[in-house]
Amino acid sequence: MRTILITGSASGIGKVTAELLRSRGETVIGADIRDAEIVADLSTADGRARLASEAARLSGGRLDAIIANAGLALPVPATVSVNFFGGVATLEGLRPLLAGSPAPRAVAVSSMASLMPSDAALVEACLAGDEPAAVARATELAADPATANLIYASSKVALSRWIRRNAATPAWAGASIPLNAVGPGVIATAMTADMIATEEARKGLLQMVPMPLNGIAEPIVVANLLAWLASVENTHLCGQVVFVDGGSDVVIRGDSTW
Ligand SMILES: NC(=O)c1ccc[n+]([C@@H]2O[C@H](COP(=O)([O-])OP(=O)(O)OC[C@H]3O[C@@H](n4cnc5c(N)ncnc54)[C@H](O)[C@@H]3O)[C@@H](O)[C@H]2O)c1
Repeated sequence: MRTILITGSASGIGKVTAELLRSRGETVIGADIRDAEIVADLSTADGRARLASEAARLSGGRLDAIIANAGLALPVPATVSVNFFGGVATLEGLRPLLAGSPAPRAVAVSSMASLMPSDAALVEACLAGDEPAAVARATELAADPATANLIYASSKVALSRWIRRNAATPAWAGASIPLNAVGPGVIATAMTADMIATEEARKGLLQMVPMPLNGIAEPIVVANLLAWLASVENTHLCGQVVFVDGGSDVVIRGDSTW
C-alpha cells in the first residue's frame, strides 16, 4: 500500500481526500495548521521546515505521493504565503522523500480562479521565489478593496505556472515523477460556505464562475481526481492543470486553449 501526504487535511477537499485514500487502504499523513498528524503553519519558514522533518520521520523516509492542497482564500498577504510559497515548499521540500517510491506522484490544488483577473507584479514575484517582494505587493493590493481580490487569483496563477515550468525538468519528469495540478470550480467547503449560503449568493457566484455541468460540487468530486493523479495508474500526465469545474474553463476560455 502507498503512503500519501496531504496538506490541508483538516477540512474540505483535503479532509475528504484523506478519507477516500484511507478507505482504499492507503496510509495517509495529514498536515494542517490544526487537527492533523503534522501540525504546521505553511505560511512560515518554520512551519515548512517542520512539515519536511515530520514527514520524513512519520513516513520512515519514503512517500509515494504528495498532495499540496492547503490554501487560504482571504484577501490578505498570508494567502500568497500559504497558497504559493507553502505549496511550492511542500512539493520541493518533500520531493526527496519520493525518491524511494516505485511510483512517485505529486499534485497541487490550484483553482479556476487562475482564469480570473490577477496582478502581474505579484505573479512575477512569486515565480522569482521572492517571498518578501510578493508579500509586499500583496500588502499593497490588500489595502484597496478594488484590488484585494487579485491576491487569491494571483497565487493560483503563479502556482499553475510553477507546475508548468517544473513538470518537465530533470527534478520531476526526469525522476519519473508526474507533477500536475487540479483546477476546481466552486466546491462546497468551509472556504466557500459564506459565498453559497443563500440562493442569491449562489446565483451571483455562478455568474462569475459558470458551472453548466452539474453546478457547485461536493469535495469528493475533487478528491476522486486527486486520488487518480496520485495513483500508480497516472504514468504520463505532465504539467497539466486539470479543471474540475463544471465547465467554467470552457465557458471562459472557449477554444483559445486545450
Ligand atoms: N472550495 C472551493 O471552491 C475551491 C475552489 C478552487 C480551489 N480550491 C482550493 O482547494 C484547496 C482546499 O480548499 P478547501 O475548499 O478544502 O478549503 P478549506 O478551508 O475547507 O480547507 C483548507 C485547509 O487548508 C488549511 N490551511 C489554511 N492555512 C494553512 C496554513 N497556514 N498552514 C497549514 N494549513 C493551512 C486549513 O486549516 C484547512 O484545513 C485550497 O488550496 C483552495 O484554494 C477550493
